[in-house]
Amino acid sequence: MNSSSPNKSTDNGPVLRDHVYDGIQEYDQKLPNWWLFTWYITIVWFVIAWVAYYQLHVGESGQEKVDGQMAAIKAAQLKEMEQLSDEKLWAMSQDEKVVSAGAATFGTTCVACHAPDLSAHLGAVKLPGLPLNDTEWKHGGNPLQILNIVRKGAPDITKGMPSWEPQLGLNRVVEVVAFVLSKHKKGEPVTLAADSPLKAGAATTAPAAAAVSATPPAAGK
Ligand code: HEC
Repeated sequence: MNSSSPNKSTDNGPVLRDHVYDGIQEYDQKLPNWWLFTWYITIVWFVIAWVAYYQLHVGESGQEKVDGQMAAIKAAQLKEMEQLSDEKLWAMSQDEKVVSAGAATFGTTCVACHAPDLSAHLGAVKLPGLPLNDTEWKHGGNPLQILNIVRKGAPDITKGMPSWEPQLGLNRVVEVVAFVLSKHKKGEPVTLAADSPLKAGAATTAPAAAAVSATPPAAGK
């Protein structure tokens, strides 16, 4: 009788279930063991992972990993900062790789105000920034002084030189300063601009202060 049953296949093949839906009958087959065990393992693994990772906090979370790496970068930068010196910055200004990286940053971030040739002039047009290719500096011409201005911006922010470290990060700031220094010579004579705040500070202690305070706007600085 077996062979006449409509629900059984004739040749030991798959068994058909009686249930019919939309004229479709399903096979009644056992899932292959390899498939079932893979599935069981994923369930067990989920339970272990959920308890260990989310409940018992075994191992680092993604956030902790990121925090750890950020702290390491900060520490490395701090160490680098402590080791930065005029000497080191001059040396970097001779390093082609550092200088070309700095030139790229300068090209995107600084040219608008300091011009591609660092003169702060485009033809006859004076740009907002100060020339960086001459030996007269408003905020000091030592490499560390230049670095400081680029990191922190000009002391008087209304002058329009923002602080770049938050945006660029210390490494790129150092590179761009190396690029600026590559247009200079170590040991070249450096002068302070007439309106330099460094000069004003020095002038108040000197007898020449009277001459400076004769001009009212300069007196407040
Ligand atoms: C929005 C315009 C602007 C941009 C962009 C800008 N600067 Fe300046 N920069 C200025 C101005 C304005 C001053 C003068 C500030 C003052 O008078 O105190 C200045 C001053 C400086 C000084 C000090 C010059 C001196 O004589 O002491 C340096 C160095 C400098 N900028 C480098 C840079 C670098 C490097 C970048 C790019 C990362 C940059 N600047 C981007 C406007 C700008």
